[in-house]
Amino acid sequence: MVQEGLYLESPREDLDWSSLRFSYTKCPSLVISDIDISDGADGAQWSAPRAIPHDPLKLEPSAGALNYGQTIFEGIKAFRHDDGSIHMFRIDENAKRLQRSAERILIPQVPEEIFVRAVKMCCVWNSSYVPPYDSGGALYLRPLVVATEPYLGVRSSKVFRLVVYATPVGPFFSKPEGLAVRLVTGFHRSYPNGVGSTKMGGNYAPCMQSMAEARQSGYDLVLYLDAKGRGLVEESTAANFFALVDGVLRTPSTHRKTILDGITCDSICYIARHVLGMKVVDDEDLPVELVRTAEQAFFTGTAVIVSPVKRIGHEADSEMAVICKSLDLAQELKVILTDIQFGRREAPEGWLTQVTPSDLEPLT
Ligand code: PLP
Ligand code: COI
Repeated sequence: MVQEGLYLESPREDLDWSSLRFSYTKCPSLVISDIDISDGADGAQWSAPRAIPHDPLKLEPSAGALNYGQTIFEGIKAFRHDDGSIHMFRIDENAKRLQRSAERILIPQVPEEIFVRAVKMCCVWNSSYVPPYDSGGALYLRPLVVATEPYLGVRSSKVFRLVVYATPVGPFFSKPEGLAVRLVTGFHRSYPNGVGSTKMGGNYAPCMQSMAEARQSGYDLVLYLDAKGRGLVEESTAANFFALVDGVLRTPSTHRKTILDGITCDSICYIARHVLGMKVVDDEDLPVELVRTAEQAFFTGTAVIVSPVKRIGHEADSEMAVICKSLDLAQELKVILTDIQFGRREAPEGWLTQVTPSDLEPLT
């Protein structure tokens, strides 16, 4: 049974889709689901997701999310195809990653079925904000899980809310000439046996100082090195890193759990191997020494898509400077990825999930 009055809408006419950037526009609906594990986690279940009119969250000042950072999130894009249909990219991978993040900080795992349904619902209820096909933009869906129980002592919350909000987005960077990247030497985003591979809110605030300092010095974004001082390149605050060295595409291995397992990163490795026939190394460390000899470099992520790098450096150490000779590979990979996302090229099995109002039928 389709809920009465629910259908996919065309893009609104009162928005200037051509000037879309990666910035926040409020959409009319949120989707929420709750869980209370006060009587034990075993029998507790997330409630059926429901759409509500957009409203600020009401949280007790003593909520665990606000005081102790017990909060995780995901980022997913939905794309309008030429025929008006709407498709989400690799949402099952986001569902699994949210579960991994949840497990690490004792948040009850959201079952994949509930997660996918909540995100689809948010997309359908805000479908007039999915940008037009030819704008190149997407609807960015942000599922958050927040600890909402009011309490004081440091422990895990017993009450949590899943909230999904949406916002139409365009390009993250507008730098066709390529990005200027600062190697950060005085701060580490992550450390072995820490939480760097999770998408928890607490991983982002500590990076803001190094990002602000880099911007003040004329850089567009930062690249962090490993915390043990071995000179291994890890990632940026919100994007994975690739370097083309001697014709081999390299991205650092995530096995130490210091780097987020990017879904775009995985997709780019697949495309480079299976579409372009390239040699890709994603299971080894990436020493900065090797990056110094890179012919090309780029960042990947849901928000940044594939963003080419022009130069990497650190003003205090000119030895670290890298100038990329070309942006071609990043541009080619971006075209292939976005062609898949917008339905212009056949997607590998399972990469696109169509969103339709029938997705809002009751959960079985
Ligand atoms: N690394 C970090 C720390 C991120 O926040 C993100 C963004 O989600 C990425 C990498 C890229 O991941 P994905 O491609 O799944 O968006
Ligand atoms: C994403 O790419 O979806 C992210 O979550 C990055 C965001 C922090 C800007």
